[in-house]
Amino acid sequence: MGHPRVDAIAREAREAIAAAGSSAELEAIRVRFLGRGGALTQLLRSLGVLPAGERPSVGAAANEAKRELEALLETGLAEALETERRRLRARERQDLTLPGRRPPWGSLHPLSRVHDEIVSIFMGLGFSVVLGPEIESDYNNFEALNIPRDHPARDMQDTFYLSEDTLLRTHTSPVQIRAMQVQRPPVRIIVPGRVYRRDVPDMSHSPVFHQVEGLAVDRDISMADLKGTLELFAHEMFGPGSRIRFRPSFFPFTEPSAEVDVRCFICGGAGCRTCKQSGWLEILGSGMVHPQVLRNVGYDPEEVTGWAFGMGIERVAMLRYGIDDIRLFFENDLRFLRQFA
Ligand code: FA5
Ligand code: MG
Repeated sequence: MGHPRVDAIAREAREAIAAAGSSAELEAIRVRFLGRGGALTQLLRSLGVLPAGERPSVGAAANEAKRELEALLETGLAEALETERRRLRARERQDLTLPGRRPPWGSLHPLSRVHDEIVSIFMGLGFSVVLGPEIESDYNNFEALNIPRDHPARDMQDTFYLSEDTLLRTHTSPVQIRAMQVQRPPVRIIVPGRVYRRDVPDMSHSPVFHQVEGLAVDRDISMADLKGTLELFAHEMFGPGSRIRFRPSFFPFTEPSAEVDVRCFICGGAGCRTCKQSGWLEILGSGMVHPQVLRNVGYDPEEVTGWAFGMGIERVAMLRYGIDDIRLFFENDLRFLRQFA
């Protein structure tokens, strides 16, 4: 029941299938002969132009050839796919004897370490940790702390205002107010946290930095308690050989007030760039809580007194690790960070 034109196409297709080396090649052959524009499809479609007598035999031959080729392609394709899959599996086989790849070890940021150390020293002294929000009201950050409307600290130059009366806190002191509003004396808390100021960055100033606030309010709390506590802290943090000094200062929310400096570790006190030639590095502001602040939270200054301090964590870390530029903490250069692993 053969037909010369059908036979020729079928022979060509059989040879192509036999010679094909991949599933992709077989797919191309299928398109070439059996696809929409394929040779056999075309032939079947053009049966109408043949003389009526030839049509049945050519049609039958073409249909048979089509079934044969489809079967050949199906078998060939299945074999080719199996071979290709096997080859892929062989290439991807895992070598379980290879040594493992170790992920690099991370380490705590030096600021986290110093933060943890400060917290643990004060927890050892009976202080508990309280946290407050970084977005603060003008009232808590300034007003309740006895910082009047015209105080230079409230200047747009120093403070990031978010609206008329909300701002990014410029210190951790507003958490003193929050804590005292919900707690009766005695109070012994520390408040670590991030603070924001429009300070121009230099070796010892960053516009974002961290403070730890300390607050102790009780009957008969004195300036001597503050000095004793901070001296003890300095010895724990910087070693018994460290030197600190109390320098009279001013804060609207403390009276009297003092700032505490630590002997500069870089020049040993002789004066250098990091300490601005003074031989000392300021780490905190402190003082006896102002009676007006106590009244603002409903405490009676005739009954209780207190002291407070606000310590710069970066400054403590600089002294602790001998780092001469605060900006190193925020650049996240791995060569710097790895030294604390
Ligand atoms: C205050 O912020 C007061 N709230 C501290 C205080 C609390 C006084 C309780 C009395 C009672 P001062 O602005 O001096 O004070 O900042 C305190 C410490 O934060 C400084 O001693 C310094 O260690 C650190 N500090 C201040 N500005 C920066 C800055 N731009 N970058 C890094 N550290 C800073
Ligand atoms: Mg200061």
